[in-house]
Amino acid sequence: MIRSVLIGTGSALPSDCVSNDELAKRVDTSDEWIRERTGITQRYIAAEGETTGTLATAAAQAALDDAGLSIADIDLIVLATATPDNTFPATATKVQHQLGGKDFPAFDVAAVCSGFLYALSTADAMLRTGMATRAIVIGAETFSRILDWEDRTTCVLFGDGAGAFVIEAQDVAADGPGIIASRLHADGEHGDMLYVDGGPSTTGEVGKVRMKGREVFRHAVTNLSSVLGEVLAEAGCQPGDIDWVVPHQANFRILDATARKLGLPMDKVVVTVDRHANTSAASVPLAFDVAKKDGRIQKGDLVMLEAMGGGFTWGASLLRA
Ligand code: UT7
Repeated sequence: MIRSVLIGTGSALPSDCVSNDELAKRVDTSDEWIRERTGITQRYIAAEGETTGTLATAAAQAALDDAGLSIADIDLIVLATATPDNTFPATATKVQHQLGGKDFPAFDVAAVCSGFLYALSTADAMLRTGMATRAIVIGAETFSRILDWEDRTTCVLFGDGAGAFVIEAQDVAADGPGIIASRLHADGEHGDMLYVDGGPSTTGEVGKVRMKGREVFRHAVTNLSSVLGEVLAEAGCQPGDIDWVVPHQANFRILDATARKLGLPMDKVVVTVDRHANTSAASVPLAFDVAKKDGRIQKGDLVMLEAMGGGFTWGASLLRA
């Protein structure tokens, strides 16, 4: 069967790392509050000149290097972001150009924190139907640029970064590598729980992030547990078969509550929210890259990716590394 097989990963972080204590000098908050409520200890913030596009390009190049490929081997780029460099062109086309690519489709996907799951599922479908053979799938964000730095309920939670996968269509056995099953969901009824209060067609301004944190938290645990169950059922697997869960990194307490609901021990959950904070669409590929590079995720491991974000949107993908 034709599956999209993961053949390279990469990530990139801005150079500036900001600790909770440093943030507490600018905002009415404390290291203790942020750690206790979220597990976050620091985040990376893009400096002038660092953009979603530059971070995405660096992550994509790292993923190409990891795969031992060059841009000439690629025929698709899908980039998930809610913080594009410009309203248009798509940041994916900038990445294509920066990497020296030409004449293949490159586009952005917007599903906020679930964006990488949406981008990966789209690229996977295009590979399996023969529309492309090798894709770079990127999650990249500079949320620091759309935070209200006066609003302590949101500005302490997010960070900037990028992560990328290179996936390739391969003819594999049923127990072989690749993306086995994916499920995506959206429910626009809850659009006012996590949104940006601006945009080109409304205020004409970029706007700032607004969130009803407690409600988002409650929906996140319910929706994630449910979609994880759907993907496991489609793949014919049990929670105990999973070697690693790589979740969207919004809050340690969400990761913990979701793992508990599934009966999974936390030592199977990759946690990077402490170091990176919530990097929205970048968080899943960034966390995956960290766990692959430090030797936790090994070839043959069964890995569950999952995310939930504004919209609401949510989804999960099960893959064999
Ligand atoms: O990535 C997309 C998905 N996003 C998420 O998944 C985020 C989900 N939500 C959360 O992670 C949590 O709801 C938060 C971390 C945002 C908030 O935690 P919480 O336990 O739900 O706290 P809360 O919003 O109920 O606030 C508790 C208290 C409030 O004070 P009072 O009203 O009890 O006196 C807040 O004003 O904490 C106060 N507070 C803060 N205090 C110090 C809120 N933010 C801060 C802060 N520093 N940064």
